[in-house]
Amino acid sequence: MNKWLKRSLVGIAAIGVLGATGLAAGAYLGDRKAQRYVPLQVAAVATPADAASLQRGRYLFATRGCADCHGASGRGEVFIDGGGLYAKAPNISPGPGNVVSGYADEDWVRTIRHGVKPNGQPLFIMPSEDYNRLTDADLGALIAYVKQLPPAPGDAGVMRVPALVKTMYAAGLIQDAAEKIDHDLPAAQPVPEGVTAAHGAYVATMCIGCHGAGLSGGKIPGGPPDWPAAANLTPGEGSAMTHYASAEEFAAMLRTGKRPDGTEISKVMPFTSLREMNDTDAHALYAHLKSLAPLALGNR
Ligand code: HEC
Ligand code: HEC
Repeated sequence: MNKWLKRSLVGIAAIGVLGATGLAAGAYLGDRKAQRYVPLQVAAVATPADAASLQRGRYLFATRGCADCHGASGRGEVFIDGGGLYAKAPNISPGPGNVVSGYADEDWVRTIRHGVKPNGQPLFIMPSEDYNRLTDADLGALIAYVKQLPPAPGDAGVMRVPALVKTMYAAGLIQDAAEKIDHDLPAAQPVPEGVTAAHGAYVATMCIGCHGAGLSGGKIPGGPPDWPAAANLTPGEGSAMTHYASAEEFAAMLRTGKRPDGTEISKVMPFTSLREMNDTDAHALYAHLKSLAPLALGNR
């Protein structure tokens, strides 16, 4: 065999070994980061259990993604299975195998609003950054609703993450919610519910985990390789909003998962939640997205 070829083969093998060692080290550092302690002072919010609050809590649970991952019953569903990633959310109903049985009132706030477990460790996948801006009233209604769910059998959830993703996490290329959240921000002030861009901005806080803080879309950090990039929702380059000539067309897309031309949108978009949105939220979202300044695709 040609000695140069031989040497390059040795070189490739060496790179392979280095790569594997590097990945093992990266995975180790990723695990360490997932077990870090996030110091936080959190206060409980009022969780009124009157009929109107529970109805609001039920609506938020159904529309803001909770039911997508934890299931309508709260028992926990498999929500990622592909590209070497597997994730099943934990049971958060009061049923057997749940992680919330020992929760104090403020623990709900720590988890949902800050992305941190009662023991101070960060949640890894749950997009708490989408929920940080829920008002105290909405967060309280949501917690009251989850607490009174009928017990459903489930388990503590499962998470299998490839070494490469853990390495990227360790290197800061993928961030958990607790890293993305500004924990010192005071709770969001309520805006009147109505078909306004301001209320739409409030609803759109559930879109930022995937579409980015600026809603300009791009590759979803930490998503499996087979996930399409999130669309640009600003009027910038490649904007998907040009598909929607009216708020009615936009609302129909949320209900059906299809564009006005009939083509199917990727199921990575959480349509099981989005189709439950009421007209006020859907039309307000449209008003907000139409009011955004243009950003280039993927500018996050
Ligand atoms: C994209 C999927 C997803 C969505 C959406 C989601 N969760 Fe989770 N949730 C998870 C996963 C996965 C965990 C396990 C912790 C982690 O992320 O590593 C979890 C953990 C929890 C926990 C327990 C944390 C602990 O270990 O103490 C609670 C409580 C919870 N979620 C409530 C909610 C509520 C309420 C909502 C809606 C506002 C919600 N989740 C939305 C995936 C999700
Ligand atoms: C879990 C991730 C995720 C969340 C949360 C999410 N999206 Fe998306 N969205 C995507 C992906 C991925 C695409 C690209 C789909 C495709 O190319 O088929 C997309 C595409 C879109 C499109 C373009 C559809 C078209 O005409 O091509 C719109 C509009 C949109 N999302 C709006 C929203 C709004 C509004 C929210 C919040 C209420 C939201 N999305 C929440 C992942 C998400």
